[in-house]
Amino acid sequence: MLNIIVLASGRGSNLAAIQEAIEKGELPGQIRAVISNKKEAVALAFAAAKGIPALWVNPKEADGRLGYERRLLKAVEEIGSDCLVLAGYMLMLGSEFIQGYGKPILNIHPALLPAFPGGAAQKDALAYGVKYSGCTVHFVDEGMDTGPIIAQTPVPVLDDDDEEALTARILAEEHKLYAKVLSWLAQGKISRQGRKVTVSGGGSSL
Ligand code: GRF
Repeated sequence: MLNIIVLASGRGSNLAAIQEAIEKGELPGQIRAVISNKKEAVALAFAAAKGIPALWVNPKEADGRLGYERRLLKAVEEIGSDCLVLAGYMLMLGSEFIQGYGKPILNIHPALLPAFPGGAAQKDALAYGVKYSGCTVHFVDEGMDTGPIIAQTPVPVLDDDDEEALTARILAEEHKLYAKVLSWLAQGKISRQGRKVTVSGGGSSL
């Protein structure tokens, strides 16, 4: 049983997909809490409606980024978890937090990393003219979308795509991929040596 804490800043559709996979019995785990840096995050309202503890940690009340991350780490440690799942969490995590937590931290990104890191991945992919983009689940390190890659799903870019259409096509794959990767994690199938991540019994894409 994987104890998950989700960090989210916004709409929370990946959070909802993970919770749905748990409810369907596809992911042997539970979401212990959802934490956000944004009071108005839809993700917090979703959690509250599901009876999952929903916590707002206000960055403005903390003493800078380090102070904020110390408060975040304290909250995470008090709740208890096996992993942290970033699902549309819009702040970077520093090394004190990552080292201090000491357990897997995962993120999902709407592009095939290392292509198009950052906050405008779908727009950047369209502007570049790639024929395939997709989504990536990776371990979090100190960089921006630079951590070891666990799994990716390619998604075609169609000639008449705009940002909205491509974003929606990728998002549908994100929802499947994140739940799948977490089920691998729950089953102890993921191992990591440096940047190289392997999934026993196959995997790495859907
Ligand atoms: C997703 O596209 C995810 O890849 C990116 O932020 C977005 C979050 O969407 N990191 P949601 O809040 O899960 O709906």
